[in-house]
Amino acid sequence: MNVNLSEKIILRLAEEGDLPDSELLALIGSGEFDGLLFRLADLKRRERYGDEVFVRGLIEFSNYCRNDCYYCGIRRSNGSAERYRLTKEEIMECAASGYGLGYRTFVLQSGEDPYYTDDRICEIVAALRAAHPDCAITLSIGEKPKESYRAYFEAGANRYLLRHETADSGHYGKLHPASMSPDNRKRCLFDLKEIGYQVGAGFMVGTPGQTAENLVSDFRFMQELRPDMIGIGPFMTHSQTPFAGCPNGSFPLTLRLLAVTRLMFPYALIPATTALGTIHPLGREQGLKAGCNVVMPNLSPVRFRKKYELYDNKICTGEESAECRSCLEARVAAAGYRVVTDVGDVRRDPGAAGR
Ligand code: 5AD
Ligand code: FES
Repeated sequence: MNVNLSEKIILRLAEEGDLPDSELLALIGSGEFDGLLFRLADLKRRERYGDEVFVRGLIEFSNYCRNDCYYCGIRRSNGSAERYRLTKEEIMECAASGYGLGYRTFVLQSGEDPYYTDDRICEIVAALRAAHPDCAITLSIGEKPKESYRAYFEAGANRYLLRHETADSGHYGKLHPASMSPDNRKRCLFDLKEIGYQVGAGFMVGTPGQTAENLVSDFRFMQELRPDMIGIGPFMTHSQTPFAGCPNGSFPLTLRLLAVTRLMFPYALIPATTALGTIHPLGREQGLKAGCNVVMPNLSPVRFRKKYELYDNKICTGEESAECRSCLEARVAAAGYRVVTDVGDVRRDPGAAGR
């Protein structure tokens, strides 16, 4: 059934936090009422989070990856990627300088790098936990067995980011080699949740072959998972991948989906991503105005930053941590919000399953 988008549909989404598939499809397919949609998303975020924007210090500690995702610049088959790894000491130094800049959450991200065995990850997490007992430690290191996730948790990690990338199995198969499975990825997310992590899921907008129906499936999957964090950014071309000839995702559609996400998941921590800042010079600011409430400045040593290139022309690769921190603070303020430096936990309704 084809539905015409109307203001009524958007108002109902804001009120009820959900729409039937046909109306969601109409909303995804039309920018006619984006102004209203963004205003309502901003109101919804302000109800729960006021004008606060949480900062997360991102440490990209290795760009080795055993996987070969077709979209990603650090995929195994990219022979022109210069690979690097940070030592535990270097990671600790990044975190210490971040702590000095006010960060109270560290995100350790890498490719799926077998060098970092569970023991090594636990050692790093435990050292960070001991040095910064007042901070949240977030891992973003890919698909692992449940027991590994449990070991990291026991070592002191409390959050985990693992975008589901696409909830549709057919589409998943177009973005990943056959060695990767959508079921395993979803299994990981449910395992992480069960262990007690705050969990982040999410997807890219405009990956090759993505349909509006796929995006509806992404929302339905997230309604099942109820993730604490939801990362959504545009697909960005990388010249050394099988998707080199494919166009970037759409900026307006990404903003629209971020706003829909805020209205469906009022409690969620939603970053204005680096990819959003790359596709448009004011992308992150506009993301904040459409419902985002997190930014993730880079804390990695500058000499490695360009090497962690998931896509072409990634921003923030030349700045020192302190510059990136103050740049983002100014951007957040210019958009009408305020950076806060506490741990920034999710704010779910007591007793409600995530509304
Ligand atoms: N464009 C945009 N985002 C990308 N990611 C990986 N490659 C790209 C790309 N080419 C995203 C994936 C991954 C996250 C760390 O970065 O969604 O989960
Ligand atoms: Fe990193 Fe502006 S946000 S330099």
